[in-house]
Amino acid sequence: AEPLRIALAGLGTVGTGVIRLIETNQAMIAARAGRPIEIVAVSARDRAKDRGVDLSAYAWVDDMQAMAKRADVDIVVELVGGSDGPALTLARAALDAGKGFVTANKAMVAHHGLELAELAAIKHAPFAFEAAVAGGIPVVKGLREGTAANALNRIYGILNGTCNYVLSEMEQTGADFDEMLAAAQEKGYAEADPAFDIEGVDAAHKLAILAAIGFGTRIDFEAVRTEGITQVRASDIAQADALGYVVRLVGIATLEEEGDAPRLLQRVRPCLVPFRHPLAAVTGPTNAVVAEGDFSGRLLFQGAGAGDKPTASAVVADLIEIARGQSGAPFSVPVATLQQCEPADPGDRIGR
Ligand code: NDP
Ligand code: HSE
Repeated sequence: AEPLRIALAGLGTVGTGVIRLIETNQAMIAARAGRPIEIVAVSARDRAKDRGVDLSAYAWVDDMQAMAKRADVDIVVELVGGSDGPALTLARAALDAGKGFVTANKAMVAHHGLELAELAAIKHAPFAFEAAVAGGIPVVKGLREGTAANALNRIYGILNGTCNYVLSEMEQTGADFDEMLAAAQEKGYAEADPAFDIEGVDAAHKLAILAAIGFGTRIDFEAVRTEGITQVRASDIAQADALGYVVRLVGIATLEEEGDAPRLLQRVRPCLVPFRHPLAAVTGPTNAVVAEGDFSGRLLFQGAGAGDKPTASAVVADLIEIARGQSGAPFSVPVATLQQCEPADPGDRIGR
């Protein structure tokens, strides 16, 4: 069968993870996809950098935008980052050229996902971003396909691996905030600018994407009330512990259907989580998402939320789906019917 030919933009933590995964599981991936998945071209800033992977089999492209025009490329995979700039230019160029586009870039999807989905629909080009939310957990597909028959009541959870690592390490070892943030960066969990993690913005990007998928609404990142973990002190964690709680950065989204205009509440902030709640047991870079459906009941999606291997797993899952010709619409309803909502007042409680 004809291979699915990939251009890979970004060769950092996730990009090199994707190369390793495709190389390691090549035969199995080809069998499951029904055709080989082959990287043909790669791009990053610094050609000379040693990335610990052999790039000699791939064409190096200095100007990543040129990837969108290559005749030997079917799918552009963007693992560069940034809501605008080269990532967005590449996304638009790839889709405009009718190429498929796969990304792990939640910042870009949160800001421009609808525009890109509209362009993808016009061009009949696949557009997929499983890796943008919660690393290796297939929660985008889980909410889009798995809960498609349900009216969801709430979506909430731990959506940032860096913050969860920092908070749970502080709780378990009494470690210092800055030291644990540096460790998270070293392990490849953090964003290039870790302020996005610790100020709650990364979790807000992901919450906005999940809310849109779960509730069939337009992505409304601007309306997410966001507070990070920079004000959390070791003494807060110790006091919470004495009272039977852990501190977790939690994102909560609900859709209030009262009246004519539905109202979407989206909030990210540090929460006191009772020891008995499933989210209290979520430690390290793990993420967990709870979705409450009217027929499914409470579902818990849990797993590694950051890092090279889990994120690569989600990126390549999108590629396999595309190779099979099964890639569906990126949202749970056609882009034309996504609802516009008013933001609601916060009244968040994660309960028992
Ligand atoms: P890294 O910083 O490790 O890698 C970014 C890559 O993009 C590098 O190879 C870099 O090149 C390249 N790059 C950056 N800016 C430019 C530019 N202007 N022109 C050309 N190349 C550029 O990031 P990650 O791999 O951690 O993250 C990539 C994406 O995946 C981001 O959107 C991130 O939010 C997302 N993500 C990350 C996860 C993680 O656990 N790390 C998990 C889920 C999503 P060079 O190496 O030459 O400097
Ligand atoms: N910086 C992000 C996190 C990467 O720590 O969760 C995964 O999206």
